[in-house]
Amino acid sequence: MIEYSEFSGKTVVVSGAASGIGQAQAEAFLTQKATVIGLDQQPMTAKERFIPYQVDLSDYSQVAEVGAAILARYPHVDILINTAGILDDYLPTLSTTEELWMKIFQTNVTSIFRLTNVFLPHMLERKSGVIINMASIAGLIAGGGGAAYTMAKHAVVGYTKQLALDYAAEGIRVNALAPGAIKTPMNAADFAGDASMAEWVAKETPLNRWAEPQEVAAATLFLASEAASYLQGVVLPVDGGWLLK
Ligand code: NAI
Repeated sequence: MIEYSEFSGKTVVVSGAASGIGQAQAEAFLTQKATVIGLDQQPMTAKERFIPYQVDLSDYSQVAEVGAAILARYPHVDILINTAGILDDYLPTLSTTEELWMKIFQTNVTSIFRLTNVFLPHMLERKSGVIINMASIAGLIAGGGGAAYTMAKHAVVGYTKQLALDYAAEGIRVNALAPGAIKTPMNAADFAGDASMAEWVAKETPLNRWAEPQEVAAATLFLASEAASYLQGVVLPVDGGWLLK
């Protein structure tokens, strides 16, 4: 992994840090000597420079409480990585209950809005900050999820672009990631049984394989770094070429 000395001493908030891509992102920033505040509804273990908070990000009062607690201890959050999210089992609209629709929207979109509104004011005070939101190929095309998931990831893309436009002049860089097939617990069902679904996905991917979450983490470090200083409002595919077709 590339070494970025600039992250040493920085404070990074990563949502979804207990599993998959968020966990890999948290580890990547820890390796770069940043202090990482991990948010997740699953329990996590504290370790050197890693401060976990267990929180349901779809619950407004919990986000407000945890946000205030974090800011009291770490008033200078430099980087916000909004990664927590859930899948909708690829359900078409007629099989999507209103409850599922709302749950997907609250978890995948509203949580990003809430966390941004907690940390952005403090970034603006210092005229410096980086926000990276988790979209997906499902934020750009159909077929990467069901009706609710695709709706939510498109919303993440729209929100990212508006944030990027509104705060560019004030020193805030905002971008999104659009991963394709990443091997995480979210996709465990594809690997179940004879793993024929996982095989099909690999074959359909131009690079002919699934990616490890560390490959998304590497792209995250780049986007958060000075090497990406002129990238604003981009939705960066990390998809092995899936969007080429
Ligand atoms: P994962 O299931 O391994 O990790 C997601 C994490 O988010 C879990 O630790 C979970 O507890 C947490 N989370 C979910 N709802 C939460 C809530 N209400 N409050 C707090 N924490 C919550 O999944 P993975 O694959 O790492 O996904 C991370 C993000 O990447 C998601 O937003 C997903 O949509 C996105 N993504 C994943 C892709 C993949 O192929 N794995 C492809 C494209 C996007």
